[in-house]
Amino acid sequence: MRGSVPKPTARTPRHIAAAALVSLGAAAAALAYYFTPEYSRVGYAPIQPVAFSHRTHVGELGMDCRYCHDAAERAERANLPPASTCMDCHNQILIDDPRLAPLQEAVQTERPLPWIRVHALPDYVAFSHAAHLRRGVACVECHGRVDRTDRTREEKSLSMRFCLDCHRAPETRLRPLEKVFDPTWTPPKGEEGAALSKALARRWSVRRLTDCSACHR
Ligand code: HEC
Ligand code: HEC
Ligand code: HEC
Ligand code: HEC
Ligand code: HEC
Repeated sequence: MRGSVPKPTARTPRHIAAAALVSLGAAAAALAYYFTPEYSRVGYAPIQPVAFSHRTHVGELGMDCRYCHDAAERAERANLPPASTCMDCHNQILIDDPRLAPLQEAVQTERPLPWIRVHALPDYVAFSHAAHLRRGVACVECHGRVDRTDRTREEKSLSMRFCLDCHRAPETRLRPLEKVFDPTWTPPKGEEGAALSKALARRWSVRRLTDCSACHR
């Protein structure tokens, strides 16, 4: 059989078959995944270097998310605030409080506070904060009521099922752009609320992004 190297044309079908098998496998895995109980990290709430509380700063002081997470609106990633942002107030408030000692140290040494990540998607999933925020999808849809939480925790599963549940019918979950940062906003009741979301979906021509390639590239 020496010298009988198959010509490219002869190999092509096998490649196609292999590719088909792979994608069949992926589809089967996805199906199994979707119908098995939801994998979830809900409740994950690491102890942070400073006991920062959204309940105090958002719930009680009424601060806007953008004071600290200003990148969320325009970038894929939301940022965490540098220690200097905290010092806008904490150079006057609770200066000698031991709970803020790591913050003072971070400022003096010019090193960022080593915050521990709460949410993380696997690398093979595409996600953009800005894409959601400019279509009226609020922080609270994916992160829950941070304004009522002391230690930040993963509130929602952020699993594939979680994403798809909205992507199949996003037109029921949209709100006016100026309300996306407000965790306390609730839509008008009944018909009126549904009509508002539908009108927004029409105005922005919101698509139902359910193809695998929307999130896996
Ligand atoms: C005063 C600053 C400040 C404000 C205002 C603020 N945050 Fe935060 N946020 C932080 C800090 C600091 C962390 C990191 C520590 C932690 O996880 O609690 C954080 C963490 C988070 C995380 C977890 C990030 C991760 O690691 O996955 C989410 C989600 C979040 N914030 C959402 C919000 C939302 C939504 C709002 C507005 C309703 C908001 N934050 C307002 C300072 C702030
Ligand atoms: C707009 C002003 C302001 C900013 C900015 C701010 N804080 Fe505060 N912070 C306060 C006030 C007011 C209190 C409540 C003080 C009190 O209890 O007397 C507070 C309380 C705290 C406490 C004590 C625990 C609690 O929840 O009462 C910690 C810890 C804290 N802040 C950390 C931070 C960190 C970390 C940042 C930056 C990510 C930050 N703060 C940014 C105003 C601010
Ligand atoms: C449609 C769902 C969704 C919405 C809406 C959303 N987030 Fe997130 N957020 C996520 C996911 C998913 C991650 C993890 C991203 C990753 O690992 O790549 C995340 C991560 C974060 C982080 C950690 C840093 C990062 O980007 O990985 C912060 C901070 C955060 N979100 C804040 C916010 C704030 C503030 C808002 C509203 C202004 C918001 N998020 C709206 C889903 C959402
Ligand atoms: C509450 C509703 C909702 C949830 C939850 C949600 N999305 Fe979306 N997503 C949307 C809407 C609305 C759009 C905009 C559709 C359009 O552009 O027409 C969108 C767009 C996207 C896009 C396209 C962005 C672009 O570049 O245009 C990706 C990718 C995406 N979402 C991934 C995710 C992932 C991953 C999750 C889960 C972690 C998720 N989404 C959760 C509503 C949601
Ligand atoms: C709206 C966004 C979105 C769409 C559309 C989507 N996925 Fe996913 N997929 C995700 C997210 C988010 C995860 C990661 C979940 C996690 O972290 O547990 C994921 C995980 C997976 C995994 C890994 C499962 C595992 O157990 O590790 C496979 C395989 C997969 N998706 C296949 C698909 C296929 C095939 C399609 C098309 C039928 C599809 N996905 C469509 C968001 C999406």
